[in-house]
Amino acid sequence: MENLVIAIDGPAGAGKSTISKLIAKNLGINYIDTGAMYRAITYKCLEAGIDIADIQSVIDICQSTDVDFVDNCIYLDGTCLNDEIRSLEVSSNVSNVAKIPQVREFLLQKQREIGKRSDVILDGRDVGTHIFPDTRYKFFLNASAEERGRRRYQELIDKGQDLVLADIVEDIKKRDYIDSTREVAPLVKADDAIEVDSTSMSIQEVVKYITDMVRRIGE
Ligand code: DC
Repeated sequence: MENLVIAIDGPAGAGKSTISKLIAKNLGINYIDTGAMYRAITYKCLEAGIDIADIQSVIDICQSTDVDFVDNCIYLDGTCLNDEIRSLEVSSNVSNVAKIPQVREFLLQKQREIGKRSDVILDGRDVGTHIFPDTRYKFFLNASAEERGRRRYQELIDKGQDLVLADIVEDIKKRDYIDSTREVAPLVKADDAIEVDSTSMSIQEVVKYITDMVRRIGE
């Protein structure tokens, strides 16, 4: 029997990872953060002093990298990464790494391989459109750019980073633009995905709504 694959796509800061982790826990399935894989490659390039505009060098680094996602943790060449991939520097560069077709192809294979290991919920931009287009469980989580910026700002402030809200909203809008206008696998709602606007919903409300829908689709 095919394993259960739940796709949660949407723009930056829509709450995809928080919500996906809670749903994974509720349903007792694995969680995969596909964005963390792009962030890990970006982090490795920045650490190596590579200019992200130097596409060939980014591709070379990517193809010699081991990326995996196990037990809620992203592994880069065997090391579990945490907050280092959430810095503003990584966030500001990751969309330019994610638009490189060879990087996407490399990670797409990995994501399919990891996703086939067990029942999973994956969050990202192209899970329902490209990684697992055949799954029946597709959701597109959205919220206004201002609300998404406010949530990201709070998250980073709570982690002790010193930032300006307007810069975060600006960064989110810039990423939305790059992610939705790139040529390969742009951020777009799959025709058969259920759209959830979380602007004025609590985390618990969104989790309940999606969990109920998953159960209903599975009946
Ligand atoms: O979800 P996130 O903010 O951690 O994602 C980081 C970047 O990775 C985001 O700007 C777009 C890209 N991404 C992607 O292109 N495809 C995915 N499946 C997941 C993320």
